[in-house]
Amino acid sequence: MTAPAKRQKTLQKILFALVILLIFLSIGLAALHKTPWKVPTEDKLRKNPLAASDANFNAAKPVYNEYCANCHGDAGKGDGSDAMMYDPAPSNLTEPKHMNSLTDGEIYYQITQGRKPMPSFRKKLTDDQRWQLVILVRSFASPTTPPPALIKTPEPPARK
Ligand code: HEC
Repeated sequence: MTAPAKRQKTLQKILFALVILLIFLSIGLAALHKTPWKVPTEDKLRKNPLAASDANFNAAKPVYNEYCANCHGDAGKGDGSDAMMYDPAPSNLTEPKHMNSLTDGEIYYQITQGRKPMPSFRKKLTDDQRWQLVILVRSFASPTTPPPALIKTPEPPARK
């Protein structure tokens, strides 16, 4: 082999190694880096049209168990039976700092749009089901209402 041909071969090898390195680097970065969701302001500001009532909360439960728990886990910790298969991993919906920074509209948007590997639920669930899920998802990270024993019932006004 002539000297220039040899040099070209070496150069090709280096380039090939660089390309491989770049591919691995970007895969690695994508796995490590959970980028924030970009939610349009209009969607962010949207209010939940449904009341955070027991009825809406209870309606969301079977829907969550069927469509979400396999990834996010029964209690929203991101530890569902399929969670290991996904990259990025399903979010921990009990993480208060992050979850409480989201508006209802943002959570609704996330459920509606999805983001790989999370599917979109725009067509699989009705608007009401998705808003009900927002109420349920909120409950994972928010301290629940204190147990009844701790709620002080106001003393009936003293009669004279
Ligand atoms: C296939 C697994 C999978 C299913 C099913 C799934 N999710 Fe997710 N979910 C994910 C993953 C993965 C992310 C993180 C996506 C990202 O950050 O790019 C996520 C993110 C979210 C977020 C955003 C939280 C944050 O980090 O800001 C919410 C809210 C959410 N999911 C709710 C739900 C609800 C409610 C359902 C059921 C209707 C559901 N998900 C079904 C995998 C799933």
